[in-house]
This record gives sequence, C-alpha cells and structure tokens, in this order.
Amino acid sequence: MEIDVRQLAEKLSGRFIVFDGPDGCGKTTQRDLLGQALSDAGCNVVKCKDPGGTAIGNRIRHILLDYDLSKMDVRCEAMLFMASRAQLVGELVDPALAEGKVVICDRYVSSTCAYQGAQGYDIKRVIEVAPFAIGDRWPDATIVLDIDVETGFSRTGRQRHHVGKNRKKYAGQQNMFDGAQTDAMEARPVEFHRKVREIFLQLEQFYPSKVVTVDARDEAGVVHANVLEVLSSVKL
Ligand code: TYD
Repeated sequence: MEIDVRQLAEKLSGRFIVFDGPDGCGKTTQRDLLGQALSDAGCNVVKCKDPGGTAIGNRIRHILLDYDLSKMDVRCEAMLFMASRAQLVGELVDPALAEGKVVICDRYVSSTCAYQGAQGYDIKRVIEVAPFAIGDRWPDATIVLDIDVETGFSRTGRQRHHVGKNRKKYAGQQNMFDGAQTDAMEARPVEFHRKVREIFLQLEQFYPSKVVTVDARDEAGVVHANVLEVLSSVKL
C-alpha cells in the first residue's frame, strides 16, 4: 500500500502517538523514523521519552537510578514513573499538542501496565491511578511493537545465561537506564519478560485508548512501513 505521508502528517497534527513494547522491540528507532518522515512532510514534531524528558522528570529518573530495584516497593516504583510522566505531560506534551504539533513518545502508561503489572501491581489500579498524573491525556494511538523475548534480548545484547549468574550484581538500579549493559529491569528473570510481553499483547482489551500491535521482528525499514500503514488506516 502506497502511503501519502503528507496526508498522514495532516491527520496526525495535534495528536499524541506512543511507541511501546518489550525491551529490544526497537521503539526508539521507530519513533525517530516516524518523526523524520513526518517532519519531512512538513509536520511539527516533538519527540519525548518516558521516564524522563524534562529536568524534573530526569531527577525522578535519578531517584530510580540510585536505588536498588530489589528494595523498591512496586507501588513506589509505579508512583515514581507516574510522577515523572505528570511533569512530562504538563511541561511538554500538553503545550506541544495545544500548538498543533504531533507528539511522539517512547513509552507511557502502557509500560507501567506491562512492567509493574508483570511484577504484581494490579493493572486495573494503574489505569485508575493514571489520571492523577496525566489528566485525560491518553494517547490518540499506542503502537505496541511486538517482539519475542529471545529476539528482544539478542537486540539489547543480553545473554540469557548471564542473568542467573549475575542477578545479584545487576540487581542494583544504578544501571537501570544506562542501556549500555544489562540493566536492573532487563536483568529480571526471563519469565518476567514473558509476562511483560503477554500484557502488552492484551493491552488493547483494557487500555482506555486506541492500541495497535505491529510485528517488530522485521528489519527497521519494513516495520516503519507497517507503522505508516497502520497509522494511515487507524481511525483517530
Ligand atoms: P530506558 O533505559 O529508559 O530504556 P528503554 O525504554 O529503551 O528500555 O528503560 C526504561 C526501563 O523502565 C525499561 O526497562 C522499562 C521500564 N519502565 C517501567 O518499568 N515502567 C514504566 O512505567 C516505564 C515508562 C518504564
């Protein structure tokens, strides 16, 4: 299907699009490819990242960075992600949308559903609590990039046997967002990551706004073409 990106850019003006999915699904790459395609088509694009994305959000991110994940209560973890997100919405997302820009965000409430949900936090509660942080700023569309755990791990460079052996070493949250090495979230058991993927695959059944799932196993260019197609056909 030939996509008219100019038409898509018009359709997405003033819209809030989120890329989400398991570790190694390629969401940052896809966010950047979509951002570039829309800018080239004349659209005013704002890219952001959750958690972080603002000075205050980055400080909250540092609180997450400085503590041992194994010692953090999952409720605290969920609230910290929400607090960072509250700042992101107030400072960046809402003002950009009000100016008619398209906002493309890397992760959002959907990640709290999947990751803290996989850890046992009640997902219904995530959805209930979220409006305290985001008001009614649910995304216009959330694109879940689906990848199996093994392929995702191979992309992030995680060695499966690594985990058991080094769990203690990597349990600290100081590396959580480094990306350069196995971080605390990535270092959680394979079963945890399977559960994360499972929740992402079920997201559209309970998420309060539109969710579309795209197979992320193909190379980036193919996934990008599928993302354009999905966004062109989805009713916003
Ligand atoms: P980060 O280094 O920002 O990168 P990436 O999004 O590329 O994986 O890692 C964020 C980690 O935090 C990631 O493992 C997912 C996790 N996370 C949650 O557990 N809950 C959340 O609400 C969010 C937004 C992220």
